[in-house]
Amino acid sequence: MFKKLFILGTVLVLGSFPLYAGKFGNPDDVEFARTVWQAMTKASLVGDNAFVSQPYKGFPPHGIVLDTVEGEFTVGNEKNILIIKRNYGGEKEPAQVMENPAKFLKAVTIMFRKPAGYDSANGDWFYVKYSPQGNVLKNPKGVSLAGRVGAPGVGGCIGCHIGAPGKDFVFCHNRYPMQ
Ligand code: HEC
Repeated sequence: MFKKLFILGTVLVLGSFPLYAGKFGNPDDVEFARTVWQAMTKASLVGDNAFVSQPYKGFPPHGIVLDTVEGEFTVGNEKNILIIKRNYGGEKEPAQVMENPAKFLKAVTIMFRKPAGYDSANGDWFYVKYSPQGNVLKNPKGVSLAGRVGAPGVGGCIGCHIGAPGKDFVFCHNRYPMQ
């Protein structure tokens, strides 16, 4: 009896995976992620001449030292909220990172708000994880981390950000309510 239930449970869990397949890491997602990187480079938000905001102490998975900048930003013909979190490693103290941010930069993670309906249940955020050079990074299964990355109860960016206070998928404040 238990064995049967177990098998049924396994089939249900595996069977639900295709729901999430193709939700992120598609060619369109990667293309849009590249457009965001180009726009951020132009605006000196990433790259060699990037502005740095005051780094602060964080914790995994993002980094031991982090800095966050955000505001309204234009990507192609979309103008919306962009939140950039820079993830540093190697040094534990923000003051040390501040001496040479580029040296300690490990990854750049962003959330860009898409129009209502893009992913209504999850706050309509487009997520990307980049290398410091702007390459879109991949998960262990080789899927690019761009788009509606993850799912509630499954993991990834959305799986964790769903726990953010205020239910808006943003941890640091509740300034952007669900649209
Ligand atoms: C295991 C949990 C977890 C996962 C997975 C995760 N994050 Fe976060 N994220 C956090 C926490 C906690 C914060 C707030 C940390 C801070 O700033 O001190 C945060 C903050 C952020 C912020 C700043 C806005 C905010 O919510 O405060 C961005 C942007 C961000 N994450 C992007 C991403 C992206 C992109 C991914 C996936 C590639 C991702 N995160 C995966 C936990 C997670």
